[in-house]
Amino acid sequence: MDAPLRRIGRGLNVSSEAERCVEIIRDQIGDAAIDVGLVLGVGLFAIADHATQAISIPYSELPGFHAPEGMAYELLLGIIGTARVAVFRGRANYNETGDINAMRVPLETLARLGAKAVVLTGVAGAVRNEIQPGTLLTITDHVNLTGFNPLIGEADGGGFIDMAGTYDRHLRERYNLASSHLGRKTHEGEVMWIPGPSFETPAEARVAQKLGADLVSMTIVPEAILARRFGLRVLGVAVATNLAAGLRHEPMTRDIQLRAAGAAASSLSRVLGKFFEIWQVESRGIRLG
Ligand code: HPA
Repeated sequence: MDAPLRRIGRGLNVSSEAERCVEIIRDQIGDAAIDVGLVLGVGLFAIADHATQAISIPYSELPGFHAPEGMAYELLLGIIGTARVAVFRGRANYNETGDINAMRVPLETLARLGAKAVVLTGVAGAVRNEIQPGTLLTITDHVNLTGFNPLIGEADGGGFIDMAGTYDRHLRERYNLASSHLGRKTHEGEVMWIPGPSFETPAEARVAQKLGADLVSMTIVPEAILARRFGLRVLGVAVATNLAAGLRHEPMTRDIQLRAAGAAASSLSRVLGKFFEIWQVESRGIRLG
């Protein structure tokens, strides 16, 4: 039962792990710039195949990067569109690790590598009937009433950060533009975080809807908080894999999530490729800033 205490005040240790990760990565890529991070959620790993000239570093070689037993998670440093991207092919969730800070080191490492932004992808359940399974939505804001926050215990009040504007409007507009360029309708929504791993109850889905959310998800939110802590701009993109409890007729399973995410991966990957292209052309060598 000592896990919660262990998490309090981890800041300093974790920073030294991130420093070590930067050294390991720089040994492999030299001083090449990293423009942006891309965190891939379950079922979306195929997006990593679009990174060209990629150098791969397994999470097992990076201190503080977590992968569940038997999962070959890796960090890929390569090019998508025209951007130099650090692709996190695998993310550690709170519901697998019991650690709300499971993605702290990867995100701190990304910021220390000089990236200015991170794209957080993940699956979600829709709390509105009109959101069809397979829909891609950019996240506009989140609701986290769980009491869990990765910044609890930060030294020197470092956790008191402004969360307004977390889901960067400019990045969202560029992503939506990329989506329209490819002839796709754009969708936006607010997400309510539930830690999982059990899916929400129908009552919880109704609460989410009453609070104005469009989606419930077990992911993205803790990372968005950490990303802001490390000064990264955030684009959140959710794949609505299913209707939430109370709205669907069949029982929910992990398999439904994985299959629906897998089916959406190639569309998401095309939009992201275009998004990186638009964004890089726009920032013409000065990079995002
Ligand atoms: N609930 C919570 N998280 C999810 C769901 C869901 O129905 N689907 C995909 N992620």
